[in-house]
Amino acid sequence: MRLLVTGGCGFIGTNFIHHLLESDPTVHIVNLDKLTYAGNRGNLAHLEGPGSRYTFVQGDIANAELVRHLLGSHAIEAIVHFAAESHVDRSIVDSAPFIHTNVVGTHVLLEAAREMGIHRFVHVSTDEVYGSLGPDEPPFTEDTPLAPNSPYSASKAASDLLALAFFHTYGLPVLVTRCSNNYGPYQFPEKLIPLAFRRASRGEPVPIYGDGGNVRDWIYVLDHCAGVEAALRRGLPGRVYNFGGDAERTNLEVVGTILDLLGASRSLIRFVTDRPGHDRRYAMNSRRAKAELGWQPTTDFPTGIAHTIRWYQTHPNWLESVESGAYRQFMDSWYTKERGV
Ligand code: NAD
Ligand code: TYD
Repeated sequence: MRLLVTGGCGFIGTNFIHHLLESDPTVHIVNLDKLTYAGNRGNLAHLEGPGSRYTFVQGDIANAELVRHLLGSHAIEAIVHFAAESHVDRSIVDSAPFIHTNVVGTHVLLEAAREMGIHRFVHVSTDEVYGSLGPDEPPFTEDTPLAPNSPYSASKAASDLLALAFFHTYGLPVLVTRCSNNYGPYQFPEKLIPLAFRRASRGEPVPIYGDGGNVRDWIYVLDHCAGVEAALRRGLPGRVYNFGGDAERTNLEVVGTILDLLGASRSLIRFVTDRPGHDRRYAMNSRRAKAELGWQPTTDFPTGIAHTIRWYQTHPNWLESVESGAYRQFMDSWYTKERGV
């Protein structure tokens, strides 16, 4: 199989490319990534070189000419589309890049895929498109109406609907996957788990938005990658598949676990101004993926979080390398101005 992966230098894309090259000795992967602040070519640099089954191309998914050229020149058969602006807080500060990449970029990919007769297009999306759950509501199913609340989730919902429309209108073999919150190696330290690790391991306060009672369903990143692979190989075009980790936790519980693993004091916790429009709870019903794809998560939260913290502890150079000056500046001014820490 000859595969175009978009956004492969980000958190999940990196894990997916490692996973697929290991599990399938016949696969060839072209990774198209713009290398935004969240993309790190170094994650996969050891795979580059003559005779490799992995090719890196720096570029924007919204560049139609480039995308068409890549699909043709590499005889691409399938696309797995991860590239996105992915951080809710950034979408609140400036939503324009979210529309450019998540909506326009996805549209460009879909058009090019249609034109070039791509056999399979996996569009990777999120539980956040379903909106927010009350404490006693059942988890989201694939039939839950979309009700996104942040500019990020609205842009992802828009791209999901475009992807499904290309199936219904043109017969493009699109599959949409929606996953809960991922954690694991290579996650950029603006997201809760690596951020809490980074701050707590330096003895700095860990900001918790609002009362810390917001609930997310956490899934180990390689379980998500296995789900995306299952959808790619066995999914039904036109269908949506939910993936969740069956591990609902409040943010306070997650941060408490990280502090315990680090042997750090709970006094590092700082309750700070809440995120505007902060969704209270996400939870996923993954019954369809389990029944139809034969998928299920295999890493429970205590095992996965311990492994993840250990990975960050043993890869200090990785954290250093992704913390560019621009990122530091953004985060420092953001937390001081918006959250008061
Ligand atoms: P990430 O922010 O870590 O990585 C995004 C990658 O996309 C980066 O390498 C970036 O350089 C690249 N990119 C951004 N704009 C681009 C453009 N215009 N052209 C080409 N490349 C571009 O994101 P992630 O956490 O790995 O998420 C990957 C996908 O999975 C996203 O679509 C996201 O919505 C979805 N998702 C993420 C989670 C999660 O918990 N992280 C959960 C469910 C779904
Ligand atoms: P995040 O990792 O940004 O993922 P998402 O918003 O896509 O779920 O945040 C996870 C949860 O943690 C979310 O409820 C917001 C909260 N959070 C904090 O309390 N403090 C922080 O510093 C961050 C980044 C997030």
